[in-house]
Amino acid sequence: MALRPPRLDAAADEVARTAAAAPDWTALADVARSCVACPELAATRQHVVVGDVPTGGRPRFVVVGEAPGATEDETGRPFVGRSGALLDQLLAEAGLDRGQAAVLNIVKCRPPGNRTPKTPEVARCSGWLRRQLDLLDVPVVVALGLSSAKWFLGPRTKLAEARGRAHQVDGRAVWATYHPSAAIRFGPNGAPRAALLADLTAVAGTL
Ligand code: URA
Repeated sequence: MALRPPRLDAAADEVARTAAAAPDWTALADVARSCVACPELAATRQHVVVGDVPTGGRPRFVVVGEAPGATEDETGRPFVGRSGALLDQLLAEAGLDRGQAAVLNIVKCRPPGNRTPKTPEVARCSGWLRRQLDLLDVPVVVALGLSSAKWFLGPRTKLAEARGRAHQVDGRAVWATYHPSAAIRFGPNGAPRAALLADLTAVAGTL
């Protein structure tokens, strides 16, 4: 399967061109931090949350969430709030090390009130993520939650059907699974937490 890019508006086009011209991770992070492609997000955010990459060397896998929450917006780092704490715990239970992962989001700025990112926001931010994935060149991706799953697998994706196996997308194995926030919402004995842990364990088995 090939990634189908969302339809580009002028701002999305500009982001895509700027991102594609960034020669490396540091250059991309520098330009992304001053992005104003989405006026509402640019006006309300504290930080553009570009993403984390391991300090020593190439990541073994990439985790892609939806968008920063309040703690991520305050700190400028992805998955450092409640969802991040559960993600770290489940990664460890699955035998994976967050320190060996790149941790990214579909949308790099916090949507006000943690609303779901709007389609044009996803389209505008896509250039950053596309270039990040190219630069990282990592063949295993974990897409957390429906927004992320749809970005990789298409707008008709249903998580319950897509999870549990790898999808080949642009030469990468994409595992779509539940977001840690769903695991928190349904509790420690809920189905999303068990499914997320099972999927992370399956990913660990491929590395
Ligand atoms: N939820 C996400 O999808 N991403 C974050 O970085 C934090 C919470």
